Amino acid sequence: MKIALINGSPKHKNSSSGNLLKLLSSKLQEKNAIEEYILRTTEISSNDLEQISKCNVIVFAFPLYVDGIPSHLLRCLYQMEKYLSSDKNNEIYVYAIVNAGFYEGKQASIAIEMMKNWAEKANVKWGQGIGIGGGGMMSMIDKSTDSQGPMKSVHTTLTALANNILLCKSSNEIYTSPGIPRIVYKIGGEMGWRQAAKKNGLKTKDLFIIK
Ligand SMILES: Cc1cc2nc3c(=O)[nH]c(=O)nc-3n(C[C@H](O)[C@H](O)[C@H](O)COP(=O)(O)O)c2cc1C
Repeated sequence: MKIALINGSPKHKNSSSGNLLKLLSSKLQEKNAIEEYILRTTEISSNDLEQISKCNVIVFAFPLYVDGIPSHLLRCLYQMEKYLSSDKNNEIYVYAIVNAGFYEGKQASIAIEMMKNWAEKANVKWGQGIGIGGGGMMSMIDKSTDSQGPMKSVHTTLTALANNILLCKSSNEIYTSPGIPRIVYKIGGEMGWRQAAKKNGLKTKDLFIIK
């Protein structure tokens, strides 16, 4: 089976979507051919489009932007929609992993709904949507497993997703949050913002100025 993993984050490094796809890739059996794509701009090359359209499964992973799909990715989706819908007989299954900066994975439900609608317009089969909260913690994914650690629920969710992908099975959406209390995530996030401000020559109070 040919599986396209598409990272829709515009980030050049430390992308949470990239971390999630890396973990998913490790859970998909070796006999599958995995093709990796990164969509950071508003256009997909015709070569990539052709290669992606030959896959049995397409998995998108992207960050939640203003409760929706990042605009550059949306432009790519329009392009893909035209290309894929022209083949009335395709049997491609589409899965989407949406990671959010907010703690609650449920924040991603609207973006997943958008992807479901897109799948219908693109004439591909909808597999499953995964909403993952606590995007700021995704770099800690390696420190957990399916049985332990603060990112345990992300592991078990991606294991369930990998099993569905391997069977080309459609399933209900799954929403998950990190295994630490919400308040701890909030305090950690605020510390991160203050450190980032300092690194960029700003003061904490500058974070609260709206121009
Ligand atoms: C322009 C912009 C808009 C965002 N909007 C939301 C949002 O509406 N809800 C949310 O939970 N996180 C939001 N975030 C946070 C990202 O979804 C979060 O940091 C994510 O983990 C980044 O994933 P990535 O590293 O794969 O790009 C936003 C981030 C940016 C830069």
